[in-house]
This record gives sequence, C-alpha cells and structure tokens, in this order.
Amino acid sequence: MSSASVQAIGLTKVFAREDMNATLQALDNVSLTIQPGEFVAIVGTSGCGKSTLLRIIAGLEIPTRGEVLCGGERVTGTNPKRGLVFQEHNLYPWLTVRGNIEFALKAAKKFKGSAARVRKLLEIAGLEEFANSYPHQLSGGMRQRAALIRALAIAPDVLLLDEPLGALDSFTRMNLQDEIISLWRGRGSTMILITHDVDEAIYLSQRVLIMSPRPGRITAELPVPISYPRNRSSSDFVQLRNEILLRLNFAREDMEEFNL
Ligand SMILES: Nc1ncnc2c1ncn2[C@@H]1O[C@H](COP(=O)(O)OP(=O)(O)OP(=O)(O)O)[C@@H](O)[C@H]1O
Ligand SMILES: [Mg+2]
Repeated sequence: MSSASVQAIGLTKVFAREDMNATLQALDNVSLTIQPGEFVAIVGTSGCGKSTLLRIIAGLEIPTRGEVLCGGERVTGTNPKRGLVFQEHNLYPWLTVRGNIEFALKAAKKFKGSAARVRKLLEIAGLEEFANSYPHQLSGGMRQRAALIRALAIAPDVLLLDEPLGALDSFTRMNLQDEIISLWRGRGSTMILITHDVDEAIYLSQRVLIMSPRPGRITAELPVPISYPRNRSSSDFVQLRNEILLRLNFAREDMEEFNL
C-alpha cells in the first residue's frame, strides 16, 4: 500500500478574462491538509472553483499564489503518482477501451500481472463487450466509466476525482461508488472527490469540505463519523445530508446578500 499526504497552502487563482478585459478570482487563499490514505470529498455550487482547485493539486494549473505539497514535495507538474479523472473523460481517441487501460498501466509501470484485475474492472463497469471499442463508438456514460476504471486500475498514491460519475444512471453509479470504496480500502490511496451529489460525498468520504463561490473558499468542513459500508437511509446519514444542504444554502444566501 502506498499513499501520500496532500497539503494546499494559501492557494489563490486569478484568471484573465480576455473576453471582458477583466480578471476573475476563482480561488481565494484556500488551504487544506489531507492525511495519507484519507478520503475527502469537496462539494459546492457550479463555478465555485472545485475543478480549478483539483487541477492545481494535479499540477495541471499554476496557482497565482500559494503552493501544493504532495508527500511533502512541492508540486510543479503532473506525475503518474497522482491520478486524475476529469469531469469530461480524457480517453485517448486512437486507442480502444482496453488499449487505454493498458497504456496507462504501462506508463505507471504496473502492466505486469494486471490482466485479471482489468477484466474484473471492465465487468464491474459493464464494459466487457466494449473492451475493443474506440471512445467515439461509446456513449458519454460509457466513456466516463472507461476513464474511471482506467484510473482505478492504476491505483495511484493520490486519486483526484472530478465528478467521475456525473453522467451515469443511479444503478451504475452505485456499483462504481462501491468499487471506489473497495479500491480505496484495498489500496489505501489518498482520495479527493469532487461531486455535486451530497449523498455521494457522505456515502464515500471521511470528511466533506464545502466550497462557496466567487472567490472560491472552503467555508465548512464536516467529518463523516459513520462506519463503512454506509446505509443511505440511516438516521445519522440523513442528518448529515440535511446539515450539508443547509450549509450549501447558506453559501447561496451569502451570495445574494452581497449581490454577487
Ligand atoms: N481557464 C480558465 N480561464 C478563465 N476562467 C476560468 C478558467 N477555468 C475556470 N475559470 C473560471 O473559474 C471559475 C471556477 O471554475 P471551475 O471550473 O473551477 O468551477 P467548478 O466549481 O468546477 O464548477 P462546476 O461544478 O460547474 O464544474 C469559473 O467562474 C470559471 O469561469
Ligand atoms: Mg468543475
């Protein structure tokens, strides 16, 4: 098992908006510390800076101020030890589903002995019959599933998930949520999951961070003190869901109050 801590220190991100000759502050002084092997979820309304935060942690975007440490080392670019599943799939269009997974396994030097695991992941994602199909031959949800199992196959030290299940039906979604938990418990990777779905955040993570928009800030942090496997209709689950929804509404009220 290997995993790494993630520390964001005072991250601020200002984008230039050439279309309006102005700037947009996507993140304001965001700091967070995630322990090795911890599972953290980030929820927040659309446009509040979640993807920007994750892309900076992945090393794909440079912060205007602040820095990210992964395993104590400063992040200066991407690294296969930090896997990222994008909000929109990023499969290689010239490779089949199986080819995409094998390519990633080879790049991470984890190809040897992976055949049975790849077969199992294809089955769980309902893609066994499409292993030899190219991304353009799949539906949007199938592409999303393929991108997720490609990341799960590698089991990196840190797995960054940007709404990886967004486009899926609830049945497939629940199966893949269980697969994410089983990967995390088996492999011990540090997990950061962005989701719009409060239930998904509570079902999967040990701690939920709530972001509010313009500029993006972390406004609350709630531990999820419920043992796995979790029951979505248990009273502590429902209570936590209500508390998070209330806080997300507070974030919206703040916005209206200040007319942002
Ligand atoms: N490359 C960019 N150039 C300019 N502005 C950007 C860029 N990327 C993001 N932004 C802006 O930063 C803000 C935050 O965007 P981001 O994609 O991080 O939001 P998000 O919380 O992931 O939203 P969603 O839930 O809809 O995915 C938005 O206002 C967006 O317009
Ligand atoms: Mg996003």
